[in-house]
Amino acid sequence: MTATLIRGRLLSFLRAPEAIDDTGSYTYLADGALLVADGRIAAMGTHDDVSAAAPQGTVEIDHRPHLILPGLIDTHVHFPQMQVIGSYAANLLEWLNTYTFPEECRFVESAHAERIAGHFFDEFFRNGTTTAVAYCSVHKTSADAFFAESLRRGSLMIGGKVMMDRNAPQGLLDTPETGYDETRQVIADWHGKGRNHVAITPRFAITSTPEQMAMTQALAEEFPDLHIQTHLSENRDEIDFTCSLYPEAKDYTDIYARYGLLGAKSLFGHAIHLSDREADAMSEAGAVAVHCPTSNLFLGSGLFPMKSYQRREKPLRIAVATDIGGGSSYSMLKTLDEAYKIQQLLGERLNPLESFHLMTRGNAEALSLVDRIGTLEPGTDADFVVLNAAATPAMRLRMETVKSLADELFLLQTLGDDRSVVETYVAGRAMKSTG
Ligand code: GUN
Ligand code: ZN
Repeated sequence: MTATLIRGRLLSFLRAPEAIDDTGSYTYLADGALLVADGRIAAMGTHDDVSAAAPQGTVEIDHRPHLILPGLIDTHVHFPQMQVIGSYAANLLEWLNTYTFPEECRFVESAHAERIAGHFFDEFFRNGTTTAVAYCSVHKTSADAFFAESLRRGSLMIGGKVMMDRNAPQGLLDTPETGYDETRQVIADWHGKGRNHVAITPRFAITSTPEQMAMTQALAEEFPDLHIQTHLSENRDEIDFTCSLYPEAKDYTDIYARYGLLGAKSLFGHAIHLSDREADAMSEAGAVAVHCPTSNLFLGSGLFPMKSYQRREKPLRIAVATDIGGGSSYSMLKTLDEAYKIQQLLGERLNPLESFHLMTRGNAEALSLVDRIGTLEPGTDADFVVLNAAATPAMRLRMETVKSLADELFLLQTLGDDRSVVETYVAGRAMKSTG
């Protein structure tokens, strides 16, 4: 395979930034280059150095003056919810029962699941997102469509067949046994195939009986390396209903802990209203709280206290996500824009270096995958995105007064969206233009 040299302004984080002037937290090369071969980054450095060492026949693609960052990562999305985005509901439970559950019933049909899978990958790559952690529907057909499309496109995706056996329409229910058997089958069919990862996916405690939770625990014990994803403490009514279903548990988090689901590979969507005890339990387990800002605002669920979670004596691991289709944008730029505004409302600051760290390396660390994605380090997978902070007339005008890299990132976050994504590379292949 011929090597490719990608030229542009490179930005890759080394650790979480401590302040807006923390220049030691990242590598920035004003005239940088990546050498890409066999789907991996073979070298990163100044254009002069990398081009001098590139093999004969290397093809050069010049993206100057744009920024090149690691591919953006979305740690919580629902693949079967593309057609419920923007559904008018008073709150989470009304939204689920009125729009979302009926919509997910359609994914029993392979043809429908395959059609939506095509749109899903197109839309994520158009927005510069190269890895997503997805809930499929309860039907194995939906997981098959999702992973087949991911394999075809060469992407690193995490996904799971949802397990749910109560409190939803009949067409959306499995049983403790079929949920277990079909999850095992999805793992056998897809985990490790291409770059696919399967996640154990009990939807949330409301839609799983204790018997199903016990089967989920069995899966987690059989497959300790797999991610686990579920929802936690999103909405006050949801919390009350959940606790009434598991009266023996201390609180919502304790339900998952009792079934062995609280660990370092566990991703808890929302986790907005945690008590101190719950936050301590999450922290001790190394579990991840996934912040879904546009969804939390859209459904009126609450303001995720990100900074207080991070400042605790026992801090929480944090990831960020769109939560499509409760979320209202596919763009991780827009997602961090809303995360910023939530911190403003809470009297906290979220600086642009922190935001861009979160949507790249931070999310990769939260997934325990930083050896593969989330940076531009040599040896990692060649997933990266080319961003233009002057993509629209309004952005071009504002760029005239931008003085620093942090200013430029903040502009990208505040005014940017899919129009700012010039190109998205997945395993070294340009995907935005070619699909
Ligand atoms: N809780 C359980 N299922 C869902 C879902 O699909 N979306 C959101 N936002 N919360 C949930
Ligand atoms: Zn969700």
